[in-house]
Amino acid sequence: RKNLVKVAVDKNFSMQSSALHDTIEADLEAGFQPLCVIATIGTTGSTAVDPIRQIGKICSKNNIWLHVDAAYAGTAMVLPEMRHFADGLELADSYVFNPHKWMFTNFDCSAYFVRDPQMLIRTFEILPEYLKTRTRGQVNDYRDWGVALGRRFRALKLWFVIRNFGVEGIRQKVRLHLELAQWLASEIRQSADFELLAPVDFSLVCFRYLPSGITDEASINEINEQLLQTLNAGGKLYMTHTKLNGKYTLRMVIAQTYVEKHHVENAWKLIRETAGKI
Ligand SMILES: Cc1ncc(COP(=O)(O)O)c(C=O)c1O
Repeated sequence: RKNLVKVAVDKNFSMQSSALHDTIEADLEAGFQPLCVIATIGTTGSTAVDPIRQIGKICSKNNIWLHVDAAYAGTAMVLPEMRHFADGLELADSYVFNPHKWMFTNFDCSAYFVRDPQMLIRTFEILPEYLKTRTRGQVNDYRDWGVALGRRFRALKLWFVIRNFGVEGIRQKVRLHLELAQWLASEIRQSADFELLAPVDFSLVCFRYLPSGITDEASINEINEQLLQTLNAGGKLYMTHTKLNGKYTLRMVIAQTYVEKHHVENAWKLIRETAGKI
């Protein structure tokens, strides 16, 4: 933790590449060697997107490993119209996205891509006599790519998901989720007593209730916490929360395999009704 450096973000919660540059310079001047930058496409809290190309250039110049974490939003890259979010990804050394988050695959299944597997193999390979198999060098021995020797065949269930829905089927579902998130965002924008708290680029909507006449931030936070607890206790919908700039934020994720518009409409109706009673 002592060696973890957090980099400043802008108003959209995206990493500021100028701040990254300054942070690296300051570290170098202080005699430290930055070794890895983790950029995110779709942060956990608000699905913010870091400027991968700008960050990648800084990393290449300073010989720093760039890992891109697209655990949740990576699924959106199945849509050609969403790939601009990954602009510059060719500069990354490693990339991860989790089909278990938004690509309809049972937990757990993370897809990890690495530019140079030799880096992993040199780090993790162990070769006692009994692991010197005849296929060595002809197949990928994934046991040499990480800490564990044994692993489950997670790719199989992902393969079945892809076979079952087809790439077009997955695209249709993801497009629907994006549309539903935009629908909810526009409803929130039109409501005087709700507000969006982060850009809606994917299928997560971050918002809060703003009851008229209450301006004290601590009270607004309390009301929203109470709203979330009441809604979740009702058993009809389930949302999570975060804090963005100190504001208690409700998070609605629209990514379930069989979600339809009426589910989101009903949820929004319930949120407004419940808020009105608080
Ligand atoms: C951006 C991001 N990275 C990583 C994770 C954690 O992923 P994993 O389940 O692979 O530990 C999450 C989970 O919420 C996430 O949103």
